[in-house]
Amino acid sequence: MTPSESNIVLSADSLSKVYGEGTLRVEALKPTTFTAHTGEVVAILGPSGSGKSTLLTILGLINPPTTGSLRIGQTKVIEKGRAVANLDQQRRQQIGFVFQRSNLIPFLSAEENVRLALELDDVPPAQSRARSRTMLEGLGLGKRLHALPSRLSGGEAQRVAIARALIHKPAVVLADEPTASLDSHRGRQVMELFREAARSQGAAVLVVTHDHRTLDLVDRILDMEDGVLSEKAVAAPG
Ligand SMILES: Nc1ncnc2c1ncn2[C@@H]1O[C@H](COP(=O)(O)OP(=O)(O)OP(=O)(O)O)[C@@H](O)[C@H]1O
Ligand SMILES: [Mg+2]
Repeated sequence: MTPSESNIVLSADSLSKVYGEGTLRVEALKPTTFTAHTGEVVAILGPSGSGKSTLLTILGLINPPTTGSLRIGQTKVIEKGRAVANLDQQRRQQIGFVFQRSNLIPFLSAEENVRLALELDDVPPAQSRARSRTMLEGLGLGKRLHALPSRLSGGEAQRVAIARALIHKPAVVLADEPTASLDSHRGRQVMELFREAARSQGAAVLVVTHDHRTLDLVDRILDMEDGVLSEKAVAAPG
């Protein structure tokens, strides 16, 4: 393996998605090939309906592709459109997902929402509590550990959702417009958190965003147009 190949944490080969059939047929994702590398933050831009969420949910093993193959970390998960691994297990262990709204479980506290991601994977309670607290404290939420989601501000709730997505050290973090409900200061903070996670955990972070004010913080920009993904520009270093 060359060094750049060993850095690949996600490799998509001719992934495509067709919804519906006959007159309702929509080719939402044209055959798409790309790789993401350890430690990088990639922004995905593109107009409404261009296929960004379709791509992200396929990569996140939420939505099956019509064709194509996908490798995440060391594991082949989809081969020629068919699952070749336990997708639920791969999703839990290798993927962290952040949605536009925080999607926290309303009857669990901030800490419990984060712990759940570990306990579903059999991490013992004492360890899951300690790790969740450390991460939430690091995100400035040390005083909000026991708050229910309904008592958190939008920015706090989104940070809890990010903690939940990062706590199990996934190989790939996927975020679908995570800053859409935040003001520009909070939006930048979220993008900085992703950068930090990419650098410190070695994750590849793919972020769908309309927020051009945070693009100076990403390593690479991809553009989605009518289901076609293309490299847009190289972001300034730093
Ligand atoms: N479950 C579905 N069934 C049928 N068509 C769908 C489904 N989900 C998405 N589509 C269609 O696929 C295309 C791509 O949708 P997608 O949600 O991926 O776009 P998007 O880029 O995320 O848009 P937005 O910026 O508005 O979130 C659109 O034409 C959409 O109407
Ligand atoms: Mg979308």
